[in-house]
Amino acid sequence: MRTDYCGRIDKQYIDQTVTLKGWVNKRRDLGGVIFIDLRDREGVLQVVIDPDTEQAFANASELRNEFCIEVEGLVRARPDSQINNDMSTGQVEVLGKQVTIINRAPALPLDWNQENSEEQRLKYRYLDLRRPLMTERLVFRSKVTGAVRRYLEDNDFLDIETPILTAATPEGARDYLVPSRTHKGEFFALPQSPQLFKQLLMMSGMDKYYQIVKCFRDEDLRADRQPEFTQIDIETSFLDADGVMAITEGLIRDIFQKMLSVDLGDFPRMSYAEAMQRFGSDKPDLRNPLEIVDVADIVKNIEFKVFSGPANDENGRVATICVPGGASLSRKQIDQYAEFAGIYGAKGLAWMKVNEIAKGMDGIQSPVLKFFDAQSVEKLLNATNAKDGDILLFGADSYHVVTEALGALRLKLGKDFDLLQGEWKPLWVVDFPMFEKADGQLHALHHPFTAPRDSSLEALKESPETALSNAYDMVLNGVELGGGSVRIHDMDMQALVFELLGIGEQEAQEKFGFLLEALKYGTPPHAGLAFGLDRLVMLMLDAESIRDVMAFPKTTTAACPLTGAPGKANPQQLQELAIATLAKDASTAEKNEAEENQ
Ligand code: AMO
Ligand code: AMP
Repeated sequence: MRTDYCGRIDKQYIDQTVTLKGWVNKRRDLGGVIFIDLRDREGVLQVVIDPDTEQAFANASELRNEFCIEVEGLVRARPDSQINNDMSTGQVEVLGKQVTIINRAPALPLDWNQENSEEQRLKYRYLDLRRPLMTERLVFRSKVTGAVRRYLEDNDFLDIETPILTAATPEGARDYLVPSRTHKGEFFALPQSPQLFKQLLMMSGMDKYYQIVKCFRDEDLRADRQPEFTQIDIETSFLDADGVMAITEGLIRDIFQKMLSVDLGDFPRMSYAEAMQRFGSDKPDLRNPLEIVDVADIVKNIEFKVFSGPANDENGRVATICVPGGASLSRKQIDQYAEFAGIYGAKGLAWMKVNEIAKGMDGIQSPVLKFFDAQSVEKLLNATNAKDGDILLFGADSYHVVTEALGALRLKLGKDFDLLQGEWKPLWVVDFPMFEKADGQLHALHHPFTAPRDSSLEALKESPETALSNAYDMVLNGVELGGGSVRIHDMDMQALVFELLGIGEQEAQEKFGFLLEALKYGTPPHAGLAFGLDRLVMLMLDAESIRDVMAFPKTTTAACPLTGAPGKANPQQLQELAIATLAKDASTAEKNEAEENQ
């Protein structure tokens, strides 16, 4: 019988004989004595084998890294000179009496002393997860989900499962489809979220629902996006936006307190419009002190068309970011920032170095200075609160381009100039527009089941483009942790929103007829939210990517090097499903064609 995990053997065990099982993390042969770092899930423990325990010594001599072994021995205090306070077990060691090799291992295909390629790490993920850092992350994640469950259960939430084989759920990504054998030519879709089911559960009277649940979205992957990810999904009846925000903010505060002993305090709220205006993002990182300052009023009448054009256009924007200490940037560095802004559509990045304010115009250096008079420059300096040694970087274009380009630039400058302040900056972003317009068509900013904030049926019909939704996003350090909304619980309103989104009556019936039908039967008002669990854990652990906190993630091309998935189906399976596959090039050609037609 194992006595305890290696990582839990401490001073309390001194003078006790213990049995331990684990892996050889490291073996050092110091001539007369062999030291083994024995590792298991909970940590690493030093084992010492003296030559006078002959059999144990002989077995220990054969050990190599990553052998799975059993050790029986006596726990003793380490001599003072060998105490290692960086290890939880650093005050003790085990004098091994018996060493049993349970299973051997060849040299690993991963070298833990250097960076391994992600492909290789994922191919041998089970070995990658043996690394203490990775093990600790999974242990931490498990404790987070435990704490989430306890909090929600204590607040009367019911854990209810919803189907994985289902119909399409519109969250804005492509669906993963699963062919049906019994209904040939037809497909299930994997849920992008349990959105509709959780609403139906409110109609069933479950009142408070939660689920820690896998969601599937076929979208372009990034550091904080995976095709298969986990949500902490929540829905409540009879609570308004404030009620849901209070409960879910409480959940996040509780987890930070329990897991990291961090008090996040009350989360401030900011409107979507303000977030876009000041930070160029609907998920502003408030650790970054840089802000986007509008200067259209100041440059409205100058000769420089690049500025005065957008400044006088109601869809245009002229704005600047003042970077403290930025006057030291070289031309080449400024050009690189201009190139970066270009990724977001900016056609240039005019700049103004504030060398010495006391010298008036002579103290300012800028390729566009000739278009300014002293008074306008003074206004710029006042508006941006610029100091000697700063640089102003300007964007002038459509509102959209300037906001996006300066929003991205702000993040990059914050990092490059090492400006981030404070460790945790949570906030709620609220008052989103109900819709955004692209290619002449309205699209739901959240999803089509989100209720308008104050609009009546008539008002929404009248001016949908200015309507605000009753949605809220929780943002932490520039990452969207979760999002939710008050839902439409009125059939006529739901039908109108579908209509505004260009979903015809027939299509609405085909896709969401069951929801419209369900809305007839005494639907309670309801509201909810979903957190990205992977993102939450990534942030808490300061990991670079959500892949680092998932046991078996996919690569950035949505594949699994470990299992080889996705793979070819065998011809018989395809026949049973009545599916024929196109040659690879044919499907690529089709895809290109489809994209061109979009
Ligand atoms: P939303 O689409 O905003 O809302 O998703 C909620 C949260 O899930 C996380 N998330 C992701 N995490 C990893 N990889 C992805 N591809 C990914 N996509 C989303 C984010 C996000 O904030 N049904 C609604 C919620 C609701 O209205 O209640 C929904 O799914 O952290
Ligand atoms: P030009 O007159 O095109 O040589 O531009 C003068 C300066 O204005 C250069 O520093 C350009 O990078 C900058 N510039 C050009 N177009 C824009 C724009 N749309 N927004 C901001 N700066 C611009």
